Formats: sequence, structure tokens, C-alpha cells
Amino acid sequence: MMWSGPVGIALCVAGALLAPPAAGAQPGASDAGGVTFTKDVAPILQRSCQVCHRPGQMAPMSLLTYEETRPWARAIRERVVRREMPPWHLDRTVGIREYVNDRSLTDEEIDTVVRWVDFGAPRGDPADLPPPAVFAPDDAWYIGTPDLIVTMEEALVVAAQGPDTFVNVHVPTGLTEDRYIRAIEVHPGDRRVVHHVNTFAVQEPETPGDNGLAGFGNVALPGEVWLKETSIGNSGDIYPEGTGRLLRAGAVIRFNIHYHPVGEATTDRTSVAFRFYPRGEKPDKALVTRFITARPLDIPAGARDVRHDGYWTLPQPAQIVHFRPHMHYRGQGMRLEAVLPDGRVELLTSVPRYDVNWQLTYTYKDPPVFPAGTVMHMTSYHDNSTANRNNPDPTMWTGSGSRTIDEMAIAHTDWLFLSDAEYRRIAAARATRQQ
Ligand code: HEC
Repeated sequence: MMWSGPVGIALCVAGALLAPPAAGAQPGASDAGGVTFTKDVAPILQRSCQVCHRPGQMAPMSLLTYEETRPWARAIRERVVRREMPPWHLDRTVGIREYVNDRSLTDEEIDTVVRWVDFGAPRGDPADLPPPAVFAPDDAWYIGTPDLIVTMEEALVVAAQGPDTFVNVHVPTGLTEDRYIRAIEVHPGDRRVVHHVNTFAVQEPETPGDNGLAGFGNVALPGEVWLKETSIGNSGDIYPEGTGRLLRAGAVIRFNIHYHPVGEATTDRTSVAFRFYPRGEKPDKALVTRFITARPLDIPAGARDVRHDGYWTLPQPAQIVHFRPHMHYRGQGMRLEAVLPDGRVELLTSVPRYDVNWQLTYTYKDPPVFPAGTVMHMTSYHDNSTANRNNPDPTMWTGSGSRTIDEMAIAHTDWLFLSDAEYRRIAAARATRQQ
């Protein structure tokens, strides 16, 4: 192996931790600053990649063994350095830092991968290999035995080849009474082709006034409550004790599914499953969805950094649980901040690398609380230039609409409303924790 360019980069990235090589050293395959597949890289792949990169799942290749991983070394380096893999698109250096479902690699883990690749991706001592990671079988319910499973009535055919498709499928729940959801889980029918699923309940929204979507687009949408986003490795949510989400009698489920062909024709029937609170029992707190939107959108052909703003004023004190940016092909980035009644501005989350292929939900580990009158401010950016590789046509102006070639700028947010006393108690406890 040549002692050439990339090695310098590796040393530089590794920083002070890595001693410079002794003068005249002859680095060989075992000299990757000591970094090997079996000892250092396999544990990272097990923790952060294999949930998707194994047979039968959506990712294009398996990363279980050295033999499977080695040919992808360069591509792996590139994707992890750009923080495109694992998918997690927020800016880790600003706003709230801790999320329940954070999949991202630490800077040290990225350094390890870079060093391993730049030193020739050596295997290392087989005795260092950790035992294989164990994954639950695809048909196991993480949430426990469901009370209700709603499955697509007809199997959709996914062709062997062709572009990715986004479909909406509506399925009645058959519920005859209101129930509070305790836990929810989505199971794709064929995990190889289901890239991503969003589920919504089409029902009367529970927020005072509308949920932010009234009159949206050219159709008056009925109320919708966002239930769950699922990408691989994120199958079930059990809500915290005492909190739940109302699913109304007669609710219809809307599955919004992103299919990706895998070279073999197949069919899919995706399901969503629920565990409920006992009949007649109302949890102390109900999760409430609010869509903070900007419209009309005006996105000139070829333009980048096209900004729009949306606002929602909290009618009472509240705690935010989830934030999910939603845009279409020209989506570039979204920020969510809170403008407090005293004028202070707090940035919650900035997602500068939005990618329509991954509509991730960011779940706050220590969810912040805000007083009544706080203005939640969503800022969206669209990229209609050729720099956006998802852009179907940079020569076209686009505006608001609900077709996939139209645009949206929606912050899906989930809230627990609080009394003044609850607000003061939680705010004080958070302030103590953060000192
Ligand atoms: C949530 C699922 C998921 C996780 C976790 C994940 N990947 Fe991926 N990965 C995918 C999917 C799906 C694709 C193909 C679509 C795309 O490129 O975005 C992909 C593509 C890739 C590619 C590009 C393959 C090509 O065809 O060029 C590389 C390299 C990669 N992943 C490496 C990794 C590594 C390394 C990790 C862990 C550090 C990781 N991925 C974690 C789902 C995942």
C-alpha cells in the first residue's frame, strides 16, 4: 500500500488522538492506526447500519460481514463523512442536542471509519469480532399483542424496475367508539421495497380551531392526525405512561408509502397496529398534532434558498414531543424556533440537509415547554436548482399543492397541552437538569 494522500487526511481527521507514524515506518494492512474491521468497524455497523443493511431489508446491500462490507469501503467513507448515512439530517451543533431516536454517528465513529478505509480497510484479528447483532423477526410486535391491526385491503404491485413511487392508500379502521392509543407499530408487507411509511388518521382534529391544514391546497382536506413515521429500524412507538393519542370512532387510516423497486416484481400490503388504553379510560394527556405551514409558496425556476415562513401561537402552555419536517422534491431545509412572549428566540431544531427520500421524525429526549402566547416559527427553504439531485425539473416554477410535483412546507409537530402549574413545574425541573 502506498503511503500517500489519504493518509494525511486520516491523520488530520483523527486529530491529537493519533500519534504521528514513526519516521521511516512501513505501514501495511495492519497499520490503520490500529483500526480494523473486526475490532472497530463491525461494532459501528452493528449499532448503526445493520438494522437496514441486512438481507430482506430496504438498504441496497448487506453490511453484516467483512466480505460483504469490503467492496463498499469507499462509498461508506463518502456517505458517513457527508453524514448522509445513517439518515439523520439535522445540524447537530445547534439547538436541542438530544433526541430519543438519534441514529447519527459521533465524530469519533466517523474518524474510525475514515481511518479504516484510508488505511486499506484491513480485516484484523477474527478473534476481535463481536458476536453477531440479534434483530427481532420481522413479524414480531415490539409493542406487544395489538388490539387492532389495520391492513391495506388490496396488495399493491411494485414493479421490478422504474422510478420510486409515492402512494396514498385509505383504509377504514372499523372503530365504533373513540379509543386512546397507547402504542403504535407499522409493518411493511415487503420490507425490501417499502422505503418509508407515514400513517395518518383521517378524523376530526382535536386542536382548538383547526389543525393548521384547513383549506390546504385546492381540496378542503378533512382533519388529519399524523400517527407515525416509519423507516426501517423504527417500527414501534410506546407512548410515555399517561399519554396517548385519540383515535376516533370511524377514523380512516391514510398510508402514505414510498416504494423503491428492487429488480424483482413483488406486492405489498402494509399494516399499522395499535394497542389501546382500556375501554373508557382517558390518559392524563393526549398528544395533539399541529401542522405549522407556509403558503402560498412561490419557488422560481432554478432558485436556491427560497425561504418561506409559517407561524402558530400557542393557545396555552405546551410541551413539544416530535418535529417532522415535510416538503417534497425541492425541499432543502427547515428550522423550528420559538419566539417567547418576552421576545427571546430559542432555536429548537435545524434540518439543513432535508431529503424527500427520508422524512424523518425528530423526537426530543427532554421535551421543552413553552408558555401560552409563544409563537412557533417555521422557516422552510426550497432548492429548485440543478444542485438538488432530487429536483425533477429545475426549469419549472413551483408552488403550493398536494401533488408530489407541487411543493409543501409543513412542520408536523406533536404537543401535550399543560396547565399553568404543570408548565411552571416542568420548566423549573428542566432548568435544574440543564445546569
Ligand atoms: C434507516 C435505514 C438505514 C440505515 C440505519 C443505514 N442505511 Fe445506508 N442506506 C439505506 C438505504 C435505503 C440506502 C439506499 C438509498 C439511499 O442511497 O439513500 C442506503 C444507501 C447506503 C450507501 C450507498 C450505497 C450505493 O448504492 O452507493 C452506503 C455506502 C450506505 N448506505 C452505508 C451505510 C452505513 C455505513 C450505515 C451506518 C453507519 C448506514 N448506511 C445506515 C438505509 C440505511
